[in-house]
Amino acid sequence: MSSMWGNKVKISLFGESHGVGIGVVIDGLPSGIDIDMQLVTEMMERRAPGRYSGSTSRKEPDIPKVMSGLYRGKTTGTPLCAVIENTDTRSSDYEKTAMKPRPGHADLTGMARYGGANDPRGGGHFSARIMAGFTFAGAVCRQILEKKGVKIFSHIYSISNIEDEPYNPVEMPSDVSRKSFPVLDEAKGLQMQECIIEASRQLDSVGGIVECMATGFPAGLGRPIFGNIESRLASILYAIPAVKGVEFGSGFEVARSRGSINNDHPHFFDNGIRLRSNHAGGVEGGISNGMPVLFRCAFKPTPSIAQAQDTVNLDAMKNDTIEIRGRHDACVVPRALPIVEAAAAICLLDVFEEG
Ligand SMILES: Cc1cc2nc3c(=O)[nH]c(=O)nc-3n(C[C@H](O)[C@H](O)[C@H](O)COP(=O)(O)O)c2cc1C
Repeated sequence: MSSMWGNKVKISLFGESHGVGIGVVIDGLPSGIDIDMQLVTEMMERRAPGRYSGSTSRKEPDIPKVMSGLYRGKTTGTPLCAVIENTDTRSSDYEKTAMKPRPGHADLTGMARYGGANDPRGGGHFSARIMAGFTFAGAVCRQILEKKGVKIFSHIYSISNIEDEPYNPVEMPSDVSRKSFPVLDEAKGLQMQECIIEASRQLDSVGGIVECMATGFPAGLGRPIFGNIESRLASILYAIPAVKGVEFGSGFEVARSRGSINNDHPHFFDNGIRLRSNHAGGVEGGISNGMPVLFRCAFKPTPSIAQAQDTVNLDAMKNDTIEIRGRHDACVVPRALPIVEAAAAICLLDVFEEG
C-alpha cells in the first residue's frame, strides 16, 4: 500500500481500523524542537468522535504512545513513531455485511485490489481512523511551523447548502478550533447542526466543505511544475477519506471572473511588498507569494447510511440490498477539520524543509 508521503519530512501511516492499533512514523524532522504533547493531544481530540450531536458513538481516547523520536520533550531528528491502540472495535457490526460491499466505501475496490486479503473490518486500512496517526503527525509539524511564524486555521465553510462566513483572504482569521462546532457565524452553525441531525433522523448523511488558511508562510517556497505547492497540497488533501474536491483561493469562481478582478496586484506597504487581494490563495507559479495560503476541501456525504441501499451479494452472487447498522457520523466534516489542518501542516513543513 502506498501510505507514505513527503520529500524531506516523510510520513508513513500504518494499521487497520479494527486491528491492534494504528500509527505513524515521521522521518526527517529537524532535531531539538520542543513538542508540547498536551497540544498534540488536544488536536487529536478534535478528530475523535462524539464532540457534537450526530457524531458516531464509537468512543476511543486516541492516546498516542510515542515509541521513538522524542527525548526530554524534544525531537531527536530520528524517526518519530507514535502508536494509538484500537480499544472500541465492534467487528460484528461489519461481519454481517462483509460480503455485501458498502456503496460509496472502499469495500469493492479494496477487494479488487487485494483479492480479499485486506482486513475489511471497519474499512481496515481505508478507514478514516487511520487519520488519527496523520493528525498526530500534523500536530507535531504544526508546532514546528509555529516556531517559524506559520499558523494554521480552519472552519466549517458549509454543510449541505448552509454556508458560514468565508475567511477574509488577506487577513489572519479568528481561531474557532476550541468550539465544539467550529464556525464563525454561530447562527449558521446551529442551522448546520440541525441539518446533520435531520439527515441522521432520515437515516441519511450530508457533506460539506472545510476552509483552511495558513498565515505567515514566507514568499519564495515551493517549486514550479510537480513541486508546486498547489499540487503538493492537493495530493495530501486527496489522501483524506471522503475528500472529493480541492480549490485554492477563489477556486472555481475564477472561471467566472475577469483578469482585471482576479489578478492580485502587488503594492508597497509599510512592511514591504504585499498583494492587495488574494484570489490566488497564496500561491503563484507553484511558489508561495507571502499571502495567506488559502484552500477549501469538499467532503462527500458519509457513505455508510442506515437506510436500505442497493448493492451486490458476493456469497450468493446476486443483486441485494444493504442496511448499515454500524456507528457512523451523519456528516464527517466537523471531525475532518484537524485532519485538514494536519495535511496543511505536514505539507507546508515539508515544503519549508526543502527550502
Ligand atoms: C473524519 C472522517 C470520518 C469518517 N467516518 C466515516 C464513517 O463513520 N462511515 C463511513 O462510511 N465513512 C466514513 N468516512 C469516509 C470513508 O472513510 C471514505 O468515504 C471511504 O474510506 C472511501 O474513501 P473515498 O470516499 O475517499 O473514496 C469518514 C471520513 C472522515 C474524514
